[in-house]
Amino acid sequence: MKKTFLLFAAFFSLIASAQRFKPAPEWLKTAAFYQIYPQSFKDTDGDGIGDINGIISKLDYLKWLGIDAIWLNPCFESSYQDAGYDVTDFYRVAKRYGKNADLKRLFKEAHKRKMRVCLDLVAGHTSIDHPWFKASQSATRNELSDRYIWTNDSTVKPERHVAGKFERNGTYRKNFFDCQPALNYGFGKPDPAQPWQLPVTAEGPQKTRKELMKIMDFWMTMGCDGFRVDMAPSLIKNDPDRVETNKLWAEIRTHFQHLFPEGILIAEWGNPARAIKAGFMMDFIIHLGNDGYSSMFFNQEGTYRHDTCYFNVEGNGTPTTFVDYYLEQLKNVGDSGYVCVPTANHDFQRPNCGTRNTEAQLRTVTAFLMTIPGVPLFYYGDEIGMKFIPGLPNKEGSQLTKGNRAGSRTPMQWDSSPKAGFSTADLNKFYLPIDSSAYRPNVESEMANPSSLLHFNRYLLQLRKQYTALGTRGAIRFLYAETNKYPLVYERSANGERFIIVINPAGKSVQVDCPFSGTVKEFKPVLVDRASLTQVNNKLQIKADAVTYGIFKVIE
Ligand code: NOJ
Repeated sequence: MKKTFLLFAAFFSLIASAQRFKPAPEWLKTAAFYQIYPQSFKDTDGDGIGDINGIISKLDYLKWLGIDAIWLNPCFESSYQDAGYDVTDFYRVAKRYGKNADLKRLFKEAHKRKMRVCLDLVAGHTSIDHPWFKASQSATRNELSDRYIWTNDSTVKPERHVAGKFERNGTYRKNFFDCQPALNYGFGKPDPAQPWQLPVTAEGPQKTRKELMKIMDFWMTMGCDGFRVDMAPSLIKNDPDRVETNKLWAEIRTHFQHLFPEGILIAEWGNPARAIKAGFMMDFIIHLGNDGYSSMFFNQEGTYRHDTCYFNVEGNGTPTTFVDYYLEQLKNVGDSGYVCVPTANHDFQRPNCGTRNTEAQLRTVTAFLMTIPGVPLFYYGDEIGMKFIPGLPNKEGSQLTKGNRAGSRTPMQWDSSPKAGFSTADLNKFYLPIDSSAYRPNVESEMANPSSLLHFNRYLLQLRKQYTALGTRGAIRFLYAETNKYPLVYERSANGERFIIVINPAGKSVQVDCPFSGTVKEFKPVLVDRASLTQVNNKLQIKADAVTYGIFKVIE
């Protein structure tokens, strides 16, 4: 009897853990994303800073490109010491971007076109100028005293704590820059010798958690479709094995999905396996936590500079760091969520950077990124090949110790006019200087030219929709991914349909063989530039000229 009971209990707990969350909404499976940095996208009121109405005016363009969902960087009231990641009012759109009503209209206009809009949720901290922080630093105890993490002695300054002229006797914990005090969600393992470290169950941290859910509900009720959560693993401090962090996100996901079954939660975690286990539906493989992404794309220029990378014309990089990490992540995530390997984001360099600056090179990058499993994402401007601009001044905290992020945040180039169709303001009023190259790319010219990079990228998105094997959930098998070798060759498959993709970012032609069984009638070129496949007995002979790619459909 006892044994049967134990067996049952084990069985049910297995089922419970496998079905911990309701599945992510179906639409995520086929969605293509586009990230918009609002200050740099399109200005309609002539102040040199992009705005929500500008985004609305470009929705048809995004639809044409094949975009299904937008992630908008923070657009809330802010002190702009970290370009909007230092929020002063979570419930209000910043004046420079418009009004809450404009954002509501953006949701509506996007939905009319069957597109979705996700906001950026800065969950871990606020600006030091937030009214919560002002109340929290008061010497008189009040209901916001525990909204942030404070020591109980201003001479005590643990790591990542900031001292200052505060009314209360204490130092506060920061989350990123000094001006970004960490919201108090409690400590996973509070140190009993430090009574100011509150457990997650304490009243203050619980109230912070409730407030976060209130913010989410507020925007979702207005029509928002989900969130990208800034620094998602950072909320709970001293949380070995992320036990309490996972519980927190599980609670939020359950609450969120109950109210908004079509809503999505995206993490900025940099480790999809961990993020999805915690309750997120998607996470990025980017420059954080592991060298996979940077070993593919970071060269000697950019926010983060590396000696070499796989996507460089010198052809001296290696794909294996990425491939190993990526395959491990895909395996661990399985069907419970999604990985996303974006073209770039506002924190690191674009594909067009340093010596990777020709259209042919940029085609190899997106031919790769748009044919691997996971949710595709274009960072604004990458679809036309906008350049990472080096040497810009520090703008609203863009400068980090390691490099400047401003190079990826310059105004979108809409047309070939002197102001690139971004704004009518004087050029010196522009949020950041526009790319000054004589032949800077722009949307209008590329739209008019069917053989442009823009059309190429649009076609890649179409192929993903046309063939499940090339889409988000199709399987991947690397056929040739060798240390310090070119090209990169992989197979994509789904429902008996197969494709082979060859990517050669190196500036020299290559020829390699790899084992290949089965009889193939034809490797039908779908989108190919000077690459070929031939089956010779049980081998696949792959040839690729310098800086080329090929997508072939396997016809059996
Ligand atoms: C990550 C964001 O992407 C970055 O831009 C910001 O500076 C930090 N989090 C702090 O919020």
